[in-house]
Amino acid sequence: MDRTISVSRRGLMAAGAGLAAGGLAMPAIAQGAPLRLGVMLPFSGTFAALGENILAAMEMYIAEKGGRLGGRQVQLIRLDDESNPANAVSNVNRLVGRDRAEALVGTVHSGVVMALVQIARERQIPLVIPNAGNASATGELCSTSIFRSSFSNWQPAYAAGLHLAKSGVKRAAWMSWDYAAGNEAGAGFRDGLRAGGAELVRSLLLPFPETNFQPLLAQIPGLNVEAVGSFYAGGGAVQFVREYAAAGLKDRFPLTGSGFLTEGTLQGQGAAAEGIKTALHYGDGLDNPKNNAFRPAFKQRTGRDADVYAVQGYDAAQILDIGLTATRGDAAADREIARAIRAARIDSPRGAFTLSTSHNPVQNMYLREVQGGENKVVGIAAEALADPGTGCRMS
Ligand code: PHB
Repeated sequence: MDRTISVSRRGLMAAGAGLAAGGLAMPAIAQGAPLRLGVMLPFSGTFAALGENILAAMEMYIAEKGGRLGGRQVQLIRLDDESNPANAVSNVNRLVGRDRAEALVGTVHSGVVMALVQIARERQIPLVIPNAGNASATGELCSTSIFRSSFSNWQPAYAAGLHLAKSGVKRAAWMSWDYAAGNEAGAGFRDGLRAGGAELVRSLLLPFPETNFQPLLAQIPGLNVEAVGSFYAGGGAVQFVREYAAAGLKDRFPLTGSGFLTEGTLQGQGAAAEGIKTALHYGDGLDNPKNNAFRPAFKQRTGRDADVYAVQGYDAAQILDIGLTATRGDAAADREIARAIRAARIDSPRGAFTLSTSHNPVQNMYLREVQGGENKVVGIAAEALADPGTGCRMS
């Protein structure tokens, strides 16, 4: 390929604007200007701990690369989105308007991420989603400029449902927050149950991020089910798991679901979480060289144990690095960035993975069981699972 024609449309426009103004301006990358990387995450609210671990692991990767991505020094511009969809559009406009972010990483919440997805599609700004699992981001709204280092909401819940059905359960219920992530995970759980010959009997839902679980918990004994699947995360998951156990339900109706339920939450959940089996694309004690280096490094840097959110943040930075290395730091060369990332095998602490044609990780869904305060990997609930990417027509 002829490298001399790889300068992007926007790179040329920026250079042209400088020339028209009378100067001999070069694109910012030629002048060695830092990459303005907009990072939109929750640093407050029920998902605050998730955002903190994503950011800390991104910073760790960038530090490992001498402060650079794709050879360019990185200037992180961070913004607390509070997991509040009402402010999402104005927050994103601030990042790409006032702050002139050239690339974006964000966010955790499936509703909030929509504003990032929209701007990435409109302006071909590279976006790596380090958590939010909504189907549309790698489905009907998929784009050359959008990549996920995380999962689709369907993936872990499907694997949990499938495992439950294979273990002999015939009827199960679902409990979650009533928003995209909870509902798409509920659909995944139902699909997994069906694939194993079982049935989803009822969904019990609360508005996000409410934690008034008691009226819903009270309904479970009357549903004639053998188990309950769920999607909660962060602070809400801590409270849910504690209340589920305190209500005396844990032994009668085993709790399972997307592994976020017990991820980064075990200190707060204590004995209430012991024995809970979930499915997720990460688990404590995964024995591969990348994870064996990652966990102690993260612990040393932050004083905290690594979790799936840290892994997704680290891999978001890796994905950007792969794309930007191919363009020698030109964040506007969207097609070349995409070509490099699509061809990559990403060496992740979860195990190496590739992206599907809709840019979502194809990855193992591990079966984990909480043992002694850890999410111990006890098997694989679904191997190399790809999200269907329904509705994606990649340009
Ligand atoms: C989401 O809103 O997509 C979401 C939030 C927290 C998680 C997982 C998914 O842990």
